[in-house]
Amino acid sequence: AAPIRYQAETATISQGVVESNHAGFTGTGFVNADNVTGSYVQWSVPVGTAGTATLSFRFANGTTANRPADITVNGTLVSDELSFGGTGAWSTWQTRVITVQLAAGTNTIRATSTTAAGMANLDALDV
Ligand code: GCU
Ligand code: CA
Ligand code: CA
Repeated sequence: AAPIRYQAETATISQGVVESNHAGFTGTGFVNADNVTGSYVQWSVPVGTAGTATLSFRFANGTTANRPADITVNGTLVSDELSFGGTGAWSTWQTRVITVQLAAGTNTIRATSTTAAGMANLDALDV
């Protein structure tokens, strides 16, 4: 099936702010997570049938340093310190894709900063 886009700016945000000052985002903005370990964005993703799914995180990282994030699905760590490398500018957006197993029903998908530099700016999650 075609992917469905879940915006970051309408997700649950802990230690972060919705901003729109860097062009190229979709929806109404993106999340600038605070540059601290533990800041996160959490999406609720409904799925009809359990199975394999592709998660595509749309992000920008205007630094030259990796901004890793732990990815959890329903509380289970599925990607440890997933890399979000530099994209060249805060207005240059790329996708970081992983494959996970989702359960039937509502899935809770969380991306959490694992370093004091925080995460890349997050625009959206496509599932
Ligand atoms: C800049 C940029 C933000 C980004 C931040 C960071 O302030 O404008 O969008 O989140 O750097 O380094 O995390
Ligand atoms: Ca930030
Ligand atoms: Ca967005």
